[in-house]
Parts: sequence; C-alpha cells; structure tokens
Amino acid sequence: MARVLIAAELKELLPPTPVPSRDVEWIPAAAETPRGDVAAIVALLSRRFGATEFAGLPDLVIVANCAVGYDNIDVEAARRHRVIVTNTPDVLTDATADLTVLLLLAVARRLKEGSALIAAGGWTGWHPQLLLGIELAGATLGIVGAGRIGQAVGRRAAGFGMRLLYTDPHTRPEFERDAGARRVTLEELLAESDIVTLHAPSSPQTKGMVSREWFAQMRDGALLVNTARGDLIDEPALLDALETGRLAGAGLDVFPREPHVRPSLVNHPRVVTLPHLGSATTKTRRAMANLAVENVRRVLAGEPPVTPVPGSPTTRR
Ligand code: GLV
Repeated sequence: MARVLIAAELKELLPPTPVPSRDVEWIPAAAETPRGDVAAIVALLSRRFGATEFAGLPDLVIVANCAVGYDNIDVEAARRHRVIVTNTPDVLTDATADLTVLLLLAVARRLKEGSALIAAGGWTGWHPQLLLGIELAGATLGIVGAGRIGQAVGRRAAGFGMRLLYTDPHTRPEFERDAGARRVTLEELLAESDIVTLHAPSSPQTKGMVSREWFAQMRDGALLVNTARGDLIDEPALLDALETGRLAGAGLDVFPREPHVRPSLVNHPRVVTLPHLGSATTKTRRAMANLAVENVRRVLAGEPPVTPVPGSPTTRR
C-alpha cells in the first residue's frame, strides 16, 4: 500500500496514530522529497512541489500543506497530475492577527529602540521627548488584502480606534459594516495610511509589489507591517525608504529567502524582525496539524477534503 508521509516536526502536535488505516512515515523538513509509492504527504511550507516532484510520485493523491499559504506548491502542476492540494485556513486567523497587532504596536511605539537603549546602558531617565511614537487611536490603517486575516486585523485595529482602509479584489460588506472599513484604490490607501499591513498571498501578481514606486506613494514617516509573505516586498527598496525617512519603521515576520534574513534588516533600529511566528501558538499549531491530517484521512477514505485550495481538484478522478 502506498505510503503516507507526515512532516516529522508535526509529530508532537498530533495523536500517536494520526491516520489509523495506514502506517505513517515521519519525514524531516531537511530530507528530500522521496519518489515512488507515496499516497499522501502532510508538508511544511518549506517543502516545494512542482512538476518534477509530481512526476516522481505517480501514486500521490494529496499534498496537505500545514499552512494557509501554498506558494510552495505549483497548484496547476498538481492539477495536471490529479493531485489534491489542501491548506489550513481559518484555524490560524486569530493567532496571525494577534501577531500582526503585536508588530503594529511594536513599530508604532518604537519597542526595539527602547529596549536597545536600556540594554546599551544609554537611558538617562524619563524625558518628555524620548522615543515618541504614534498612537493607534485616530491613525489610519491600510490593509492590503482583506481576506480572513486582513479582516481579523482590521477588527482588532478598530478596537484601538483606528480608521480602516482596505484594498482587495472583492468588496467585503460585513467588514465595512462591522468595522467601518472603506475599500479604496491602492493609490488612495498608500497616500492616506499611517500604517500599512500586508495580507495578500504570494503570487506572480503580488511578488515585489511593495516596490520603490509603492514607497514613493506612501506618507512620509509611515510604517509597514508584513505577516503575509516575504517576497511581497522589494527589500532593497524598503531599506532605501527607511534611509530617506519615507518609512519610519517596519515590522516583519516573513522574508523572501527564509530562514535567511538580511543583517541590514535584523540590525536596523527601526525594524522589528520575527522568525515567521504568525500562527505560532500551541492551540493554533495543533489545529493546523490536525486539519492537515484530517484532509489526508478524508481523501484516503474516498471523501472530499475539508479545505482544498482554490483551483485544486477535490477528487482524484
Ligand atoms: C504561514 O505562513 C502560513 O501560510 O500558514
């Protein structure tokens, strides 16, 4: 019987026999994707799947990504090979929105500079002009991508008294009604936002979209937060925008070539960097792992998956 592979890093988040009808092999993230008789793979987002991998896995029925983003998988190639692709939406929305708010506050209130000042022994006492930031109440938040996570960030930000603008391919009437968000053009969003937060998927259309032209349209002294995907941002352009003061700070949880992070960003006093922790709570990581495995269990039992990605087949035939 074709094998079921699950990312070894998920083992402690799952029950001892995650797919009762099958023997499971645990595959570490650093191991190459095997070829041959594999029916299902529960993968981390560091594992890439394209035409070559699918061609080497003729029995593969499903790749269950343990992430909401699936830019590590060529969904079109999967479709050609009749492989179902699933992700883990919803279960990570709150955790990721919380982490986004953490970064919003950290950059707005200059957390890294304050902490570094004390660590360097340079704090000489309370001073009325020390490390002044901006307060969220009354500031404008520009949400680029108002899907589940973008909206959850907006609802939290509305609680802080922020004015909300968003761009999205779709109008979000409930979000507009409940959180007072207004859909605008990207130009308008960039011109009016004090803080811009990214919640778009990585795709050929969005890669590098935060470019020099983008920064040129932002307000002087604006802030940028990214908990989506690193390759949305042209990092040299971001560093230049920090240099000129166009950008006052950035909070980054994601990077184009993880786990590599440019030292110029890590060491920048006004850039907070985190190691891709958006969904990193015990509750959420357990829920993600279990949802990914549930997709495998269902598909191997001949049922449709719970959370297929857009464009994926939902049955093998
Ligand atoms: C994490 O980045 C995810 O896509 O779930």
